[in-house]
Amino acid sequence: MNSGGNIVAVDPKAPDPLVISQAADLLRRGDIVAFPTETVYGLGGNALEESAVRRIFEAKGRPSHNPLIVHVASIEAARALTKGWSESAERLARKFWPGPLTLVLPKAVEVPDLVTAGLPTVGIRVPRHPVTFALLTAVELPVAAPSANRSGEVSPTTAQHVARSLGDRVPLILDAGPTDIGIESTVVDVSGDTAILLRPGVISSEQLAEIVGPLKTLSAASPDAPLPSPGMLDRHYAPRTPLRLFETAQRSAVESEIQRAKAQGKRVGVLAWSKEVNGGDPLIILPASPLAAARILYSVLHRLDDEGCELILVERPPTEPRWAALRDRLERAARP
Ligand code: TXA
Ligand code: MG
Repeated sequence: MNSGGNIVAVDPKAPDPLVISQAADLLRRGDIVAFPTETVYGLGGNALEESAVRRIFEAKGRPSHNPLIVHVASIEAARALTKGWSESAERLARKFWPGPLTLVLPKAVEVPDLVTAGLPTVGIRVPRHPVTFALLTAVELPVAAPSANRSGEVSPTTAQHVARSLGDRVPLILDAGPTDIGIESTVVDVSGDTAILLRPGVISSEQLAEIVGPLKTLSAASPDAPLPSPGMLDRHYAPRTPLRLFETAQRSAVESEIQRAKAQGKRVGVLAWSKEVNGGDPLIILPASPLAAARILYSVLHRLDDEGCELILVERPPTEPRWAALRDRLERAARP
């Protein structure tokens, strides 16, 4: 359990330099620190020190085949971690950094194999949160940071989510309040001729295509193919409570199911976009804009997990491209 003693509040816009230097010292000593980014909270360690990276994997219980994203403060620092910075990388970095975009590129020899799970490529991101920026600037090291949750769980969007998931496994959690974007960065492989979308996010593939032309999309359809992004096929982003998706057209069947569960004294939580769904306990209506829905989705899932529901039923988001990232996260969460 967590005593809360390791959570330190920081102003999200003007972080206290003393707190930042305390966090930077921990990182320089090879320790791990949880910190906010604009997407979700990350669990960071010195990316160039294998023992620090091992601590991250251990704290999360993360399988070693799933590579970590390395966070840096500038394009120059990103380039130094790569071997062969592509034209597409340059254009995307100039357009979207700092911001919620991770670029996958051939890695420099200095990047330990443990960070990249043995892959010849490394995922890199320049975050735009002032606290992350201050920390990366102070520490002057690349910081490997996956989302700050136990492996497989819903990513944290508050310091309290981090504390509940990782407990006392992390000596310091910087608390700058809820994150702005609420879901993880878009991940795009720009190591080859055509950019490949590995994980959708709030920067959409349409926005990326405007800069680098049409993207290939990672398909989970061919299980025998080598995995371009190993972590992407695991069950992921999932609450502990079983979660199932339903189509808007199945509404009345869903309502009957909720009634049957209720008769047996069981609670079914419902997340929906249509206001017409009846009977969820609790029933949470999500915002009609994808950005607003992304911002609150994980905190709603964390909350439902704490409510002790038997089952969480989620209405499938609309099929338009702008809902791609939310659809992706919910489909992963629904995987058995
Ligand atoms: O928004 C985010 O990206 C957050 C914040 C903390 O920056 N981080 C995050 O990290 O979501 P994580 O470890 O939970 O997810 C990283 C994803 C994984 O699915 C991993 O497979 C993929 O990025 N990835 C990392 N390096 C890769 C590489 N070299 N090749 C392919 N995929 C990679
Ligand atoms: Mg994660």
